Amino acid sequence: IGKLDDEARNILRGNDRGGYTLPTAGLYPYQWNWDSAFAARGFAAFDAPRAWVELETLFSGQWPNGMVPHILFHKPDPGYFPGPDVWGADLGPIASSGISQPPVAASAARAMLEADPAAGRDRAAGLFPKLLAWHRWFMDWRLDRGAVCITHPWEAGRDNAPDWDGAMAAIDPVGVGEYTRRDTSHVNPEMRPTKDDYDRYIWLVQRGRRLGWDEARMLEYTPFRVADPTMTFILLRAQRDLRAIGQALGEDTAEIDGWIATLEAGAETLSNARLGAFDARDARTGEFADCVSSASFLCWYAGLEAPEMLAVYDRVTAACRYPVPSHDPDSAKFNPRRYWRGPTWGILNMMIGQGLAEQGHEARAEALRRVTADLIAEHGFAEYFDPVTGAPAGGKAFTWTAAVWLTWAR
Ligand code: DGY
Repeated sequence: IGKLDDEARNILRGNDRGGYTLPTAGLYPYQWNWDSAFAARGFAAFDAPRAWVELETLFSGQWPNGMVPHILFHKPDPGYFPGPDVWGADLGPIASSGISQPPVAASAARAMLEADPAAGRDRAAGLFPKLLAWHRWFMDWRLDRGAVCITHPWEAGRDNAPDWDGAMAAIDPVGVGEYTRRDTSHVNPEMRPTKDDYDRYIWLVQRGRRLGWDEARMLEYTPFRVADPTMTFILLRAQRDLRAIGQALGEDTAEIDGWIATLEAGAETLSNARLGAFDARDARTGEFADCVSSASFLCWYAGLEAPEMLAVYDRVTAACRYPVPSHDPDSAKFNPRRYWRGPTWGILNMMIGQGLAEQGHEARAEALRRVTADLIAEHGFAEYFDPVTGAPAGGKAFTWTAAVWLTWAR
């Protein structure tokens, strides 16, 4: 354990660029939103002041409308595509992308505040209004029947999940033009999204740029809008954590209470009776994706009891040695190597495990923690893992896998 602790701390220090932490050098050479919040949790295990700085740097890129971008391009890096020139999103104080990402920052801030209330109080007080503005942005622009929608697969963080296949197939990426991917020069292309996916990713970016990343204009016609369990469950959780921060600071939290009620009702609209599980729902067509994903199991993390999900969880986790697979191993679309179409991701395991424990399912939580610790001990701090063999995949020396080790798995 001592050796792995050292390795994890060295990964965080090594990816630190002064105030923000790269997910991994090469493949992701900027500050990513949810990666950064997990980095903060990792730093909090051994350097609390540095952990607060990570979140403060993230919020230094907040847009005037409250949105916190999914990438902050602090310093140009030709090794990444699409860079700031492609996004053309100049609405914020720092060059950035034009979309957001699952809001895990409030949950990190709450954990950090509770670990040291005296030292954390001023830092949390500084972040509170910014977190509130970001969460309000989701409530203003991203709801469909109370569930939180993504407007781009990158917004969910689960880029090529089968959850979006139907919505992506409906897009004709006409005029997307020639471009050179950089991800596949860092990582085996079999572990990354396909060209069909990338054409649509870039086409959606070009469209946002044309519309000046103006949420009202983009809502007039929505080629891609999917109510997503990742976003819905994580925002619901984050609202509860933000409320706890507000209460600790003596702030009025009535607005947050209302958001929680809305999101609780919205979460129910993601329950697909035919599938017997929480699922993604296309807001344009009303159709479910019919996908059990690791995000389906974030229901407990969101504070829901969801007893009906336990049997689904038991089936999916029994189907491979290193759960939780990002897509159902019994589905024809399951691919144990390709990014979000099968591989196991440490951050999902950590959130699922935390939720299971909080809902009283201690044995399942402990089993998941232990298997995640084994995975990292046996196969290193990879970006993600083959759920069948445990083989490491994607980027190496990965910040959020190091953070998962330090905060939960060890
Ligand atoms: C990428 O570049 O693969 C990222 O997932 C986009 O956020």
